[in-house]
Amino acid sequence: MKKPFVAPSVLAADFSRLDAAAAEIDASGAEWTHLDVMDGHFVPNLTFGPKMVKDLRPHSRSVFDVHLMVSNPGDLFGPFAQAGADYITFHAEAAVHIHRLLQAVRDLGKKPGISIVPSTPVSAIEEVLPVLDLVLVMTVNPGFGGQALIGECLEKVKKLVRIREELGLSFLISVDGGVNPSTAAKVREAGVDVMVAGEAFFKAQDKKALVALLKG
Ligand code: DX5
Ligand code: ZN
Repeated sequence: MKKPFVAPSVLAADFSRLDAAAAEIDASGAEWTHLDVMDGHFVPNLTFGPKMVKDLRPHSRSVFDVHLMVSNPGDLFGPFAQAGADYITFHAEAAVHIHRLLQAVRDLGKKPGISIVPSTPVSAIEEVLPVLDLVLVMTVNPGFGGQALIGECLEKVKKLVRIREELGLSFLISVDGGVNPSTAAKVREAGVDVMVAGEAFFKAQDKKALVALLKG
C-alpha cells in the first residue's frame, strides 16, 4: 500500500519565523504544507490571510494545502488561489451551495476540497464526492492545535474509502487533528492518504524521523 503524505500544519510553528518553518518542512520529507486559515467567526481563533501564504510561497517547494475555517469561504477563493494555494478546502458546515463553490475553486485552476467537523456525517457530502479532489476529515473540533484525536471520526475515513472504491473515484482523504506517533497507526489503518500534523511536527527534535514514523 502507498504510504500517506505528511502535511505539517504551520499553525504550530513560530509565526515570526515562517520561512524557517517552510525550510524545516522541505528538509523533513513531508510533501505538503497545511495552512490553517481561521476567521474568529466560524471558529473561535484567528490566524492569517492570503498575504502570508503569498509571502511564504517562494520559501517552499511543498504542495500548499489551504484549510479555510471561515464563514463565507467563497469570498476568499480568488485571493488564496492568487497567493499560490494548490488545494483549497472549505467547510461543509460553512456553505449551502457546496457544489457551486467546489466548481468555483476548479474554475480558478485549483484543487477543491471539503472538510467536515466531528459532528458532521459523511452523508452530508456524499453527493459532491464525484466533483472534489480532497476530503479533510477533522478529528478534533477545529480552532486550535494540540487537541486529542477523537477516535470515532476515523470511522468516517473508512466509510469514505468504501464509497470511493464503490464509485470508482479518486479523491484524497486527509485527517486533521491530534495526529502524532501514538495515534498514527490507527489513522493509517483507517486508510488515510494525507496526515496533517501540527504540534507533533513542530515539537519534534528530529523532524525527518517524525515524518518517517507517521508514514509507517
Ligand atoms: C485545527 C487545525 C489543524 C491543527 C492540527 O483546527 O485545522 O490543522 O493545526 O494541529 P494538531 O496536529 O496539533 O492537532
Ligand atoms: Zn487544518
